[in-house]
Amino acid sequence: MKIMEIEGAKELNGTIRISGAKNATVALIPAAILTDEEATICNVPEITDTEALCDILSLLKADVKRASESIVINPKSLENIEIEEKYSKKLRASYYFMGALLGKFKKAVMYFPGGCSIGARPIDLHLKGFEALGAKVTNEKNKYIVEAEELKGANIYLDIASVGATINIMLAAVKAKGTTIIDNAAKEPEIVNVATFLNNMGAKISGAGTSTIKIEGVDYLHNCFHEIIPDRIEAGTYLIIGALCGNNLKIDNIIPEHLDSITSKLEEIGVSLEVGLDYITINKSNNTFKPTTIKTAVYPGFPTDLQQPFTVLLTQCNGKSKVVETIWENRFMHIPYLKDLGADVEVKNQTATIIGPSKLHGTQVVATDLRAGAAMVAAGLFATGTTTITNVEHILRGYEQIIEKLTGVGAKITLKEI
Ligand code: EPZ
Repeated sequence: MKIMEIEGAKELNGTIRISGAKNATVALIPAAILTDEEATICNVPEITDTEALCDILSLLKADVKRASESIVINPKSLENIEIEEKYSKKLRASYYFMGALLGKFKKAVMYFPGGCSIGARPIDLHLKGFEALGAKVTNEKNKYIVEAEELKGANIYLDIASVGATINIMLAAVKAKGTTIIDNAAKEPEIVNVATFLNNMGAKISGAGTSTIKIEGVDYLHNCFHEIIPDRIEAGTYLIIGALCGNNLKIDNIIPEHLDSITSKLEEIGVSLEVGLDYITINKSNNTFKPTTIKTAVYPGFPTDLQQPFTVLLTQCNGKSKVVETIWENRFMHIPYLKDLGADVEVKNQTATIIGPSKLHGTQVVATDLRAGAAMVAAGLFATGTTTITNVEHILRGYEQIIEKLTGVGAKITLKEI
């Protein structure tokens, strides 16, 4: 088991360079098998989710070459092999192989995906989308068989603007006959990045980034070279850390517009930041911050993936703050540990009420999921004394070189194997 040990209350100064977006990467790697030639993806983060998806590519006999930050995927020898549970359960995004294999071979057989336990996480909208395109879905225990004689474009309305369903339907529809329209599509930047990747291969997708996406099916997808966008959630996490511990901490290689909902909340509570073309410089404050209310929402609203780290910052606001989680029903698992560190927080239904400011003192805590883990890192860096985080495998799934990046700006943080 790996643990992190943080000696807190150090000022962080210097530059943190943001990596490629995890939630784009995990869709782009499965999407790459759709090409009839070869796909090169660069700015790929070295995180365990990337490894898990490359393992699936190897299982399917794709040719995968990795060199520093890029991956070259050639699916010429691809075989449509069943994706066993030991592969699918390593991460949520294994489900993108369903759409990609369906689009490529008109058949996909795989087990239910894994991922953080932040809610029930059904995939009914993905399956309904596949059915609308003409596929038959059979579910045997945990195994899904999705098969079509022919995939035909369709009009699909998503009951919820789901990121995963939007991308998965795009992957299945890209080579279908005719035109597919996805209405009430999710608008996250990662979706735009995946659509751009597919268009670079010759797909005809328009409207990505709006709530109506149009996909005109094509027969052939050629070579492409693609760059992954910077990770807005990683950037947001380091901004929160900067608001707690920063002394001219520069968060570099970002797209500031993707972070508007975060920067406006930071400014609202009184955090000082300077927004540049592709960076933000941030400072901690000697005073407490103003309290606020956060309600998570689909993009461009406040991202659920930053709600947990943000609760740590809210412990330093003067008065009562609230966090209303609207996307996932189980995303407050970090709160008991935040209380152990000294925070005054109560959770009722889907709302956390935080009374600040509180002094935080290091103790032993658990990373119950990826972003809960990020919250514990933020809390540990701010708290006095030593914080030990267990279950850090969750954190390493999504934050590239987190130890190196934080150590590089003055944090005392170590990863240990016990
Ligand atoms: C993506 O998950 C992200 N994961 C999540 O990030 C993120 O929290 C989430 O989008 C919301 O922004 C990846 O991109 C790999 P959804 P996804 O489908 O696609 C319900 C992180 O920390 N729903 O947009 O699984 C669902 O239960 C992770 O990086 C259905 O009911 O999320 C949820 O309430 C965690 N049926 C809501 O929609 C479905 O078929 C949004 O889920 C699909 C979803």
